[in-house]
Amino acid sequence: MKNNLFSSGRISKFVFLIFVFAFTVHYAGEGGKAKSVKSVQWTDTRKAPYLIYNGNSNQMVVLWQMKSTKTCTIEWGTDTTYSLGSASTTEYNSSHQHKFVIDSLNFRTKYFYKVTAGSDVHYGSFFSAPDSNPQALNFFVYGDTRSHPEEHNKVSGAILNEVKKDSANQTLIISTGDLVYRGNYESYWDNEFFNGSYANIIKMLSEFPYLVCKGNHEKDGSLFKKYFPYPYVNSFYWSFDYGPAHFVAVDQFTSYSPGSAQYQWLENDLANSKKPWKFIYLHEPGWSAGGHGNEQDVQHYIQPLCEKYGVPIVFAGHNHYYARAVVNNIVHITTGGGGAPLYTPYSYPNIVKTAKKHHYCKIEINGNKLHFGAYDIYGAIIDTFSIVQNPSGFKKEVHEQPNRFLLKQNYPNPFNPTTVINYGLPKSSFVKLVIYDVVGHKVKTLVNKTQPAGSYNVTFDASNLSSGIYFYRLTAGNFISTKKMILLK
Ligand SMILES: [Fe+2]
Repeated sequence: MKNNLFSSGRISKFVFLIFVFAFTVHYAGEGGKAKSVKSVQWTDTRKAPYLIYNGNSNQMVVLWQMKSTKTCTIEWGTDTTYSLGSASTTEYNSSHQHKFVIDSLNFRTKYFYKVTAGSDVHYGSFFSAPDSNPQALNFFVYGDTRSHPEEHNKVSGAILNEVKKDSANQTLIISTGDLVYRGNYESYWDNEFFNGSYANIIKMLSEFPYLVCKGNHEKDGSLFKKYFPYPYVNSFYWSFDYGPAHFVAVDQFTSYSPGSAQYQWLENDLANSKKPWKFIYLHEPGWSAGGHGNEQDVQHYIQPLCEKYGVPIVFAGHNHYYARAVVNNIVHITTGGGGAPLYTPYSYPNIVKTAKKHHYCKIEINGNKLHFGAYDIYGAIIDTFSIVQNPSGFKKEVHEQPNRFLLKQNYPNPFNPTTVINYGLPKSSFVKLVIYDVVGHKVKTLVNKTQPAGSYNVTFDASNLSSGIYFYRLTAGNFISTKKMILLK
């Protein structure tokens, strides 16, 4: 007889399998494939303290969850003697959640806090919100952390590295949603987003208030709301001020078409905000680079509001890559690379930059200038641009700075009857963009003027032309490039 674990036959093998099942936590990951999860390291804590901002610049909300009923204490101060205050907390619902609002905070001050949670002790810190009219503000944006917390942990580590470089980076994080794969199951919140095995995520959540909009993976949102109890106006939409910026979370799973309650609120909210910088964050992008299709409601309803009320950037996720589209000077960022399985971005209308990488975005505002950067998990630049507001405070000008001349393939191609041609200029140049037919006759001149450095989209309408091969030629300074396109009617 062979001397191994199963040598006594089928019964021992069965007992062994029961043993494995009982002592390994399983859950269905991407595509329903089961995978093992490392155990949570705390004795009494189920979710370590994390922060949310409730729109009150003198407050910070600390939340955590215990495994059983325990009285907890929180202490806080401007250093680690925690001398400003202490309080006991008791759970506020049947699943042992705790919440404490640290109040009477001074503007833009670093605070430290300590939570004694049964036999566990947790430490954290944060910067309170800036005053209402500071010149400078940095913040981070990323989304789609679901399914792969080990990748999310790397993105979190990269964000924490930014704080190591400069404490001015410890502000707030905007998330574009899809935090976990199955948002209506508690186990996914435990195993993916709040998993204590992922030290960077836990530390990041303890040091940055997390402002997240609801994604489709949050399902009906009841657990999302349980863990992120912002002061919603209704459903899952709300807005808040933070220093010079106004942020609006749009709920795309509640109607936001004209005439709906959310649309009415959104328009009033944008119209009434006096903040110089307004941002919208939502889950499903209006202009992106494939995977999920472009969200028409964003194109039809959100875009006009952005143009009317001066919202320079809309942040979205849903597609698991980085993409930047520019439409009438409004920038649409897809930042869905927070850990979820990466998708391949394609050439799509209005897209000026894409990257199939896990990443985060960092926005730096200084007076009337905004600098945007998208960075991979090693901190390497994926994309960068800046926006300068003109004195009216409304019209924003996007200054792209491509590092070389380029002429991209038109999209779509073949086309009928319109297509978009994109090109980039690293410096101010006299630009000619001309269409030729297959025998070299000039058909149309689309551009014939000096243009500043930047990235440009030009729509070519071939309604009056017959099917066939055409060429478009870009001449900019000494740069000449010609590409072929096909009109198919
Ligand atoms: Fe999604």
